[in-house]
Amino acid sequence: MMKETLRYLAGIAGASGYGSKSTAEQVTQDCCGLLPPNLTAIITGATSGIGAETARALARIGVRIVIPARDMKRAAQVKQMIQEENPKAEIIVMEIDISSLASVKRFCSQFLALQIPLNILINNAGIFSHNLEFSEDKIEMTFATNYLGHYLLTDLLLEKMIETAAQTGIQGRIINLSSVVHYWVKPDAFSFNQMRNPNNYNGTLAYAQSKLANILHAKEMARQLKARNARVAINAVHPGIVKTGIIRAHKGLITDSVYFIASKLLKTVSQGASTTCYVALSPQSEAVSGKYFADCNQSNCSALANDESEAQKLWSQTRQLIQRRLNQSPA
Ligand SMILES: NC(=O)c1ccc[n+]([C@@H]2O[C@H](COP(=O)([O-])OP(=O)(O)OC[C@H]3O[C@@H](n4cnc5c(N)ncnc54)[C@H](OP(=O)(O)O)[C@@H]3O)[C@@H](O)[C@H]2O)c1
Repeated sequence: MMKETLRYLAGIAGASGYGSKSTAEQVTQDCCGLLPPNLTAIITGATSGIGAETARALARIGVRIVIPARDMKRAAQVKQMIQEENPKAEIIVMEIDISSLASVKRFCSQFLALQIPLNILINNAGIFSHNLEFSEDKIEMTFATNYLGHYLLTDLLLEKMIETAAQTGIQGRIINLSSVVHYWVKPDAFSFNQMRNPNNYNGTLAYAQSKLANILHAKEMARQLKARNARVAINAVHPGIVKTGIIRAHKGLITDSVYFIASKLLKTVSQGASTTCYVALSPQSEAVSGKYFADCNQSNCSALANDESEAQKLWSQTRQLIQRRLNQSPA
């Protein structure tokens, strides 16, 4: 643990050649010459923070970017910002509310109607909420946004990714943005029904549970993809602690003075986007699936996150819930 902390603070490179101080630009630039042409990536939550920086870094090296967003104005601003830097960048903005199953379904039909390939899916959108709120499907909002919507999104885009990989011979890659805070979840506090509809809501716990669910989702899906011999990998990443919108939502809980003291531990947004870019593009990580990455290197996740039976249970409970909700809704 001590060794890891020192490595983090000093930014010492791990086995991949990168470390905590590596930036998205560095990683994408290094991969640039080794990449197949005409890659397409969908990045959720690319209207701010880590997602916007990931979009900028990938677009800079010629990856076509699809930005599904609920705030179309902010999405247009990000598109403009990227194209000002790189006028040739191809950015497609489309509407989604990731917390709504009907909206995710609508986005997927519209995307699939474009008939373009899909190589990379980055499940990055996320929220932290102090207050208990429910999505239009009557599901706790953190769980609905950070996990459930992305589960459905991945499910509906999976055949497209498998087909693209088979036709092009290029490995498809899915990245789930998780967090080191998944460690905070104890096995007895991880209950599907409590996540869906909690009795005693605690925003930090809800966030941590959703981030644990992101890893379990990647683990179970990786297992299924391997069993199908599909050329699509899925991994989870901890981006590091970055002062973006999501961290600012912790106001009051983690005060500015703590931030001041902890500022040496925080990453810049570009450092925060580096692990996603590494897992999305690096030839080194191409064959890796079902793993957890931090600081651009494979890393350890909690025992609960490694529990295969929990991953399978979560998978089937999620599937049942989504089927029930979609059968109820007319959309
Ligand atoms: N920052 C950190 O220290 C940290 C640490 C560990 C993990 N992470 C993870 O990294 C990911 C990115 O976080 P960030 O720090 O970059 O956060 P951020 O700056 O707050 O960005 C979150 C993004 O998610 C989008 N989003 C939220 N709810 C949505 C919805 N219902 N439909 C569509 N889009 C929605 C937001 O869109 P709007 O513009 O519409 O709000 C925004 O683009 C998250 O999954 C987070 O859990 C972050």
